[in-house]
Amino acid sequence: MSEKITNVPSYELNTGAVMPAVGLGTFGSDKYNSEVISAAVAGAVRAGYRMLDCATVYQNEDRIGEVLDGLFSEGVVKREDLFITSKVWNDEHRDVRKACERSLKDLRLSYIDLYFVHWPFPNYHAPGCDGDSRNPDSKPFSVDEFMDTWRQLEALYDEGLVKAIGMSNMTVSKLDQVLPLCRIKPSALEMECHPSFQQQELFDYAKAHDIVPIGFCPIGSPSRPERDRSEGDVADMELDEVVSVAKAHNIHPALVCLKWAVQRGMCTIPFSVKESQYISNLKCTTEDPLTEEEMELLKKAERGCRLVKGQVFLWPGATDWKQLWE
Ligand SMILES: NC(=O)c1ccc[n+]([C@@H]2O[C@H](COP(=O)([O-])OP(=O)(O)OC[C@H]3O[C@@H](n4cnc5c(N)ncnc54)[C@H](OP(=O)(O)O)[C@@H]3O)[C@@H](O)[C@H]2O)c1
Repeated sequence: MSEKITNVPSYELNTGAVMPAVGLGTFGSDKYNSEVISAAVAGAVRAGYRMLDCATVYQNEDRIGEVLDGLFSEGVVKREDLFITSKVWNDEHRDVRKACERSLKDLRLSYIDLYFVHWPFPNYHAPGCDGDSRNPDSKPFSVDEFMDTWRQLEALYDEGLVKAIGMSNMTVSKLDQVLPLCRIKPSALEMECHPSFQQQELFDYAKAHDIVPIGFCPIGSPSRPERDRSEGDVADMELDEVVSVAKAHNIHPALVCLKWAVQRGMCTIPFSVKESQYISNLKCTTEDPLTEEEMELLKKAERGCRLVKGQVFLWPGATDWKQLWE
């Protein structure tokens, strides 16, 4: 393996903690199993990754925990040098403590660095279900229900089980409703973000509120599950703007997306289980930056292409996935 990658940029959270600007995504998109993903976690940490984006619903925290245990006991890295996230899934909004305790046990950790409400709805769907499946118990966004969940995250923070708390899959309108009610403000906002879906308004809103944006699907999630594929989706790595910048730097278009994300001021969490990919995904953010002109050009890659539409979370009576994003 090549030399360990250092000097990865980082952000200071509103808690004072430091979060690396690049993390390894750990959602296998129904394509990669937990053995493969946890092996990639081991390789990525050895290569220099210091952030891991985990979640209960990815169904691999137990295997990742085993790998982390091995890395700690071998002395490859210390717990305090890693930044590990997890997320409460939609069916556990009423018992967040139980969900968090299970993640801690599975990951074999005494604390999680950043714990998210994965989706702002308590709407459950079974992992791997198809895009047409609907749960009749699903409900629209409710400020009261969301705040009940958030209060439980605040309690976990008070106890030190989680060192920061965050929200995911939010909109400006939902944030406007809940932020004034938060005793502890979110430190980070996980949001879909790639050149063809830049969410500029939400990004600016997060920055203005001292919330660090973390972009998921940063290279357009080319291996995403069938349920997240729709006609008209754009492939970020094939966009003219991305391809021309890639040619100018003689790099893969994926790396343009990641450089763009970090230079724009967000954290990025690309997924890969392939050593050459995950190494270059981290390394690219430490060298050969994009020029201001290239950053300007990439603004024009915006196509309004949301990939994770979330239609499986629609409630009875709702017909359009856009209702989830109001
Ligand atoms: N908060 C949320 O609701 C939410 C939602 C979705 C995702 N996430 C998080 O975000 C992470 C990343 O999202 P994602 O996995 O959907 O999408 P992504 O990171 O945009 O795409 C991952 C895929 O891109 C390809 N790839 C990676 N590096 C590459 C490189 N250097 N060159 C060429 N191809 C490369 C790989 O495809 P191949 O495997 O086919 O080579 C890989 O499977 C997830 O793993 C998860 O942790 C969070």
